[in-house]
Formats: sequence, C-alpha cells, structure tokens
Amino acid sequence: MVKRRSLLGYFGIGWLTTCFPVVLAACAPTKSTDPATKTPEATTGTKEAAKPAAVTTAPEGFKTIGSVADLDKNGYLQTKEVALTKDPANPQQLIAVNPNCTHQGCAVKWIPGAKKYDCPCHDAEFAADGKVLKGPAKTSLATYPAKIVGTQVFVKI
Ligand code: FES
Repeated sequence: MVKRRSLLGYFGIGWLTTCFPVVLAACAPTKSTDPATKTPEATTGTKEAAKPAAVTTAPEGFKTIGSVADLDKNGYLQTKEVALTKDPANPQQLIAVNPNCTHQGCAVKWIPGAKKYDCPCHDAEFAADGKVLKGPAKTSLATYPAKIVGTQVFVKI
C-alpha cells in the first residue's frame, strides 16, 4: 500500500517537471521590440536588405563580363559574346573582340603564352586586336569598346 506522504511526493515531482519548462521559458530573455536595436533583416524581413548597395553600376550601354581580379589572374576574360585581353604592347589598354572566327564561326581561344587567338576548327590565328595573323580567315575579329569601372570589366557589345 502506498503511503499518503509518498503519494503527495510523487504528485509534487510530477507538478514540478510539468511546470518547470514553462517557468524557464517565461524567464528567458525576449527579443527587443525597440526599432533602434533591430537588425536590417528584422526590420525589412529579408536578408537582401542587409547587403550593401552595389558598388559598381554598368556604364550606359556596357555590360560586365567579369572582374578585374579574374582578368589579372588569368590574363583574359571570355564569354560567348566577347573575348578580352590587355593590349600586349600597352597593358593599361583593354582590347575586346568578338570571339567567333570570321571564317566559319568557331569560337577562338586566347593563348596567353603566344599572345594570340587560335581557332580550333581550321587553325586561323588572330592578334589581340583581332587582326588576322594566319588564314583561312580573311577578316579581322570585330572589336568592342571596353573599360574598367571599380572592380568590374565592362564591354559595349
Ligand atoms: Fe576558324 Fe575556320 S572557323 S578557321
């Protein structure tokens, strides 16, 4: 038979284990409702608002093709629309060309060691400024204006 005192002890422990988490939650610190202490995410509800504004905006008619860091690291930048190198005769000057070979349209590739573009299809070669060095291509690659603004390289295609 369970004694009356033991039975009350069991109920006391049960009550304590049930109520203790509620008491802890009530005593825990809450987030501030003061707008001055809110983070930007908390104020706007999005993480995007916390990012700093874009440092570089594209000049009128230009679009970015890569970063100055990548250009410095690789010596060239290339997309489907444009290939860009520094002028071998004047590294401060950028030269952007259409990377589609004027022979039959294959994508040329910049060869840093040789400082020229090679076409993998029929071995035409082009200088950094797009001029034909070796056929069968007869026409130079088209060139585009290029500039560096901030940390980005921009080309007007
Ligand atoms: Fe480039 Fe023919 S497509 S040489």
